[in-house]
Amino acid sequence: MTQDELKALVGQAALQYVVPGEIVGVGTGSTVNKFIDALATMKDQIQGAVSSSEASTQRLLALGIPVFDSNAVQSLSVYIDGADEIDPRGHMVKGGGAALTREKIVAAQSRRFVCIADESKRVEVLGRFPLPVEVIPMASARITRQFAAMGGTARLRLKGGQPLVTDNGQHILDVTGLALKDPLAFESEVNQWPGVVTVGVFAHQRASVCLLGTPGGVRTITY
Ligand code: 5RP
Repeated sequence: MTQDELKALVGQAALQYVVPGEIVGVGTGSTVNKFIDALATMKDQIQGAVSSSEASTQRLLALGIPVFDSNAVQSLSVYIDGADEIDPRGHMVKGGGAALTREKIVAAQSRRFVCIADESKRVEVLGRFPLPVEVIPMASARITRQFAAMGGTARLRLKGGQPLVTDNGQHILDVTGLALKDPLAFESEVNQWPGVVTVGVFAHQRASVCLLGTPGGVRTITY
């Protein structure tokens, strides 16, 4: 099975976690795109979605799924999103699609986080994938130095030769060289640095369930 087929498999499998009659939290990325396509087959059974990015919003609306402002919804029973890495305790690295801040916001308002991923995303210790950090541009040089002091190398993410600008009008640093052995403590610490909007470690908002796409089918892991 190709990686794309594995993504489609878990995107489809995630439908069983969508609660009929409710609003569902929707993440961002190529795996979530498969989920959104599958969600369209049951759009008449849900009220709509709260979306974590402009890209997902556009896709949802194009398929006729209403999108609600997160402020208009008190809580969601489920948030469905992909990950760049997931460890054995359900901690994740996210933000490869630059949507980490809104993803964390929607995850925080959801009672359950269902992670959908192909098996290449499973790691023992987070830190192989460059860690995305959304930052306020005027702070990026100092934050880069703070990561260097920890042994990490931060690089400004570019798009078309220019700094990538997120949906929130900020920049992304991708940090390599860190082994995130205590993701919870790391997330708490980096989140306090002035100018950090969001660090792409999802330990406080870890997964409750992971639907992992494997050649043998979907493996369900609960945390
Ligand atoms: C976007 C994300 C995505 O969930 C993550 O990058 C995984 O993406 P994909 O499903 O395309 O592999 O965090 O900000």
